[in-house]
Amino acid sequence: TALLAVAALAGYLSGSIPFGLILTRMAGLGDVRSIGSGNIGATNVLRTGRKGLAAATLLFDALKGTVPVLVGWQFGETVAVAAGAGAFLGHLFPVWLGFRGGKGVATYIGVLLGLFWPAVLIFAGVWIAVAYLTRYSSLSALVATVVVPAAIWWFERPTTAAVMAALSAIVWVKHHANIRRLLSGTEGRIGQKS
Ligand code: G3P
Repeated sequence: TALLAVAALAGYLSGSIPFGLILTRMAGLGDVRSIGSGNIGATNVLRTGRKGLAAATLLFDALKGTVPVLVGWQFGETVAVAAGAGAFLGHLFPVWLGFRGGKGVATYIGVLLGLFWPAVLIFAGVWIAVAYLTRYSSLSALVATVVVPAAIWWFERPTTAAVMAALSAIVWVKHHANIRRLLSGTEGRIGQKS
């Protein structure tokens, strides 16, 4: 239990590093929170028009979830899951940003990569299919986060499935503004500047 707490805290600290903010600042683009959706994630970094920076944001926001999970695995699945959940929550509620962080999609993928990598292929397949059809990043993630826990369950990994289902629910809650925009037809498409 002490180990679980340490894992969750270490995960949290890793997850709370706001790479989208750091990378756009380093590139001299100012505060990414003042453009587009105001989010710190890769989707919004792409609205600066800098594809490489958006890709780097996606990669680093994912890896900050993967690394704690892989370290946690040395102590078993429960510790890995605690580290992953901590990293995810760190991205959403970073102490450095007054607990106002991102929406968690990249870090969700990174945690998934560490916990059960085949599910990342499922996430990617669903995300790409929905994005190809609709050009909505948010909708693609919302659909993928529903499919993934079900798929993990089917692969008989109940602990991981249950935790990813909880993270999916949180992803949905954090996308409430996106869901409202999707329903009213005003959501921004991928790469569309605003
Ligand atoms: O799932 C993608 C989501 O993070 C959307 O980001 O910037 O369009 O709110 P944004």
